[in-house]
Amino acid sequence: MLASEFRYMQEFLLRKIGLYLADDKQYLIKSRVSRLLHEHKLDDANALVRSVRRDEDGTLAHQVLDAMTTNETLFFRDQYPFDALRDMIFPELTHAKGRHGKINIWSAASSTGQEACSIAMTASESVPEPGRVHILGTDFSARAVEYAQNGVYTQMEVQRGMPVKQLIRFFDQQGSHWAVRPELKTMMHFDHANLVENSLSAKVRRHGPFDVVFCRNVLIYFTPEERALVIDRIARSMHKGGYFISGATETPEGRTSRWNQVMFKGKRLWQLQ
Ligand SMILES: C[S@@+](CC[C@H](N)C(=O)[O-])C[C@H]1O[C@@H](n2cnc3c(N)ncnc32)[C@H](O)[C@@H]1O
Repeated sequence: MLASEFRYMQEFLLRKIGLYLADDKQYLIKSRVSRLLHEHKLDDANALVRSVRRDEDGTLAHQVLDAMTTNETLFFRDQYPFDALRDMIFPELTHAKGRHGKINIWSAASSTGQEACSIAMTASESVPEPGRVHILGTDFSARAVEYAQNGVYTQMEVQRGMPVKQLIRFFDQQGSHWAVRPELKTMMHFDHANLVENSLSAKVRRHGPFDVVFCRNVLIYFTPEERALVIDRIARSMHKGGYFISGATETPEGRTSRWNQVMFKGKRLWQLQ
């Protein structure tokens, strides 16, 4: 790829979705957009970049951004956040809000929905009247959001992290696939949202303020400056005292927000002051 086209792509990815692509990661562009070259009958990656440049808000540009994100996820990823919900956060919230108060949870960067489903299963098993738990899942990737909305997973996907007990209880088998049962589906809502947009979109705000926000395995892709902006934006959507659950190696170092570190079984969670 021409150096000028690569530099444009670096700037485009950073500006649109906060993705920082280091100089030695040029090969990633080539490998991830190869399917699109064929689909859009383009000669090579340079031609693709020129098309994106001509229409930054068009379908191809969106597909490129989507292809460049990593959607890797699994059910009950890292386990401890879901144990913390069950053993600490849900009991606290139930006590504070009474038996009927609404509990709002946001899975920011929900990918194909496994994280939101894991939250919903945990709520179903541990919250009195789980119908009052509302889970919003958002992601930049239109493909991932559509998949999450559909709520049908392959055998391979359910084998990644899902205990058999929960699989049998919360999913219906459809041939070689597993569909989320309505009991869980009604607790979740999935929508498209970009974490690096200046203001949180109205569709996210409508579901808040949030008692708990999961924002895991996405902050690592942002520059430190962008990460701080995203975290401040998320903090403004949360209740005071709300919990922020980041990935194991991620910390919420916003510029203005103040977080208390809360330890749960040797792992760090964060609480908004
Ligand atoms: C590695 S997955 C993590 C999924 C889940 N949170 C987990 O930990 O299993 C990262 C997700 O972040 C999404 N993402 C990347 N940049 C984003 C942005 N600027 N706004 C919203 N979502 C973004 C990607 O589309 C992808 O689905």
